[in-house]
Amino acid sequence: MSVFPFMFFLFFTSKQLHSSSETPTFNAVLPKRVKALSGSCVQIPCKFNVSDFESKLKTADSIFACWLKNTDRFNLKKPDNIVFNGSQNIIRGFSQIDLLGNVSQRECTTVFYDIRKNHSDNYYFRLQMEPNIFRATFIYSPVNIVVSDVPQPPELKPNDLQEVMEGTMVNVSCSAEAPCPKQPPSLFWSNIPNSPIITTQLQEKHDKTQLVFSQMTFNAFYMDHRKNISCTVTYPRNTSNDTTVETSMMLRVLFPPKETHVIIEPSASVSVGTNVILTCKSKASPSNYMNYTWYKDGEQKHLDFGEQITLNASRTSGGRYFCMAKNKHGSQKSLAVQLIVEGSSNSFVPLIAGCVGGVSALLVLFLLAMIFRRLLLAKASNKSIILESDLSDQKKQVQISSIYANSAIMTSEEQEMPKDENDEIHYGEIEFQNLKTNCTPMKNPDEETVYALVCRAEKEINQN
Ligand SMILES: *[C@@H]1O[C@H](CO)[C@@H](O)[C@H](O)[C@H]1NC(C)=O
Ligand SMILES: *[C@@H]1O[C@H](CO)[C@@H](O)[C@H](O)[C@H]1NC(C)=O
Ligand SMILES: *[C@@H]1O[C@H](CO)[C@@H](O)[C@H](O)[C@H]1NC(C)=O
Repeated sequence: MSVFPFMFFLFFTSKQLHSSSETPTFNAVLPKRVKALSGSCVQIPCKFNVSDFESKLKTADSIFACWLKNTDRFNLKKPDNIVFNGSQNIIRGFSQIDLLGNVSQRECTTVFYDIRKNHSDNYYFRLQMEPNIFRATFIYSPVNIVVSDVPQPPELKPNDLQEVMEGTMVNVSCSAEAPCPKQPPSLFWSNIPNSPIITTQLQEKHDKTQLVFSQMTFNAFYMDHRKNISCTVTYPRNTSNDTTVETSMMLRVLFPPKETHVIIEPSASVSVGTNVILTCKSKASPSNYMNYTWYKDGEQKHLDFGEQITLNASRTSGGRYFCMAKNKHGSQKSLAVQLIVEGSSNSFVPLIAGCVGGVSALLVLFLLAMIFRRLLLAKASNKSIILESDLSDQKKQVQISSIYANSAIMTSEEQEMPKDENDEIHYGEIEFQNLKTNCTPMKNPDEETVYALVCRAEKEINQN
């Protein structure tokens, strides 16, 4: 009776010894865990090594790989757990299993097709070299296949907590597991900044499983602030389950104030006594702890602080207002807005100008009347005022300058010119025709415009 535990102990230790001596003689490199997607395939990267493999290979008639499911126990009489036998290409429980690697070169990468949920299990690689040269199940390196019905969302890096300064180059990557590299997922970016550089490729991870890796590089622009950049991945599968998964991240761009402008309420044109609200609007990041300073054109000192200011419109409040918005990255001035206060001193300006104009017009009219009076007097005394061709140019100019003075008045007062005798007299001065050939610019630039009017007057005369 007491022999039993002793024997067990012996057996146990011998097995331990055996396995520890066995470990260096053969081993396989396999991922410990592989995530598979139901309705798709899964590729198990696999490499093995056997001591004196080359010499064993020379003496062997055949070499083949096998895969055992769930248990490393090998029992030909109960072969349910033998899902693959490369000797006769026997496949159990799967629609298809392909050994991609060449076992003669220690490669055992295998693809399992049409994965189902109940395929989730531990799988053991087994190598046989016949006749009876080498037979071993690689019990120390099982691979755990985990089958999921839902694809894993892609991974975005960096995550949305990161902030980038405007104008800097930003790298964002998106990676999606590709358990079935024969039918890799398609990956696309959406809501992306302008003119990014995108490179997408299939990459190998450390455990030799693959992933689709896409890198996007762009220049951070303030318009991209708070943009939700998305990476969408679609897996080809032969099930009705969801095939598309997406991951988004919010881009946070830091920038000084932009698009700074003033909003004036209720109107840019108000009457005295109205409360006018000026609001400084701006885009900035960060937008908390903003500073706003108000200015009025022509005033040295700033007017006020704050995003919004209220003015009680007085006669002197009319003018151009602008604000400056500031955050910790910089500042920006707005364009000025014009505030017009009706009935204020500002609106007197055109009035005064009008008065001055009117008075001077009257004055000129008076002068005109005087000139014509003189002309009439000259006519009365039978002295011809016809400009003779033999008159010197200087004299002509003198005459012309006196005539043009009339014309100048004519233009400014054309409509209001009273139809009195003076008017008639003016048009009666047919003598103008003598000046016809003299339509050349005067030396005095002030006379030029007037001179042109003289020409127009001639045309009128000609038409008559
Ligand atoms: C695979 O099949 C061959 C030939 O029938 C047989 O010798 C071998 O033992 C089998 N191995 C497994 C693991 O099924
Ligand atoms: C695995 O599940 C499929 C249905 O998804 C079923 O047809 C098949 O018989 C199951 N296989 C085993 C070994 O349970
Ligand atoms: C971006 O996504 C977040 C959370 O997913 C959402 O709250 C926000 O409204 C989205 N922004 C835009 C501009 O779509």
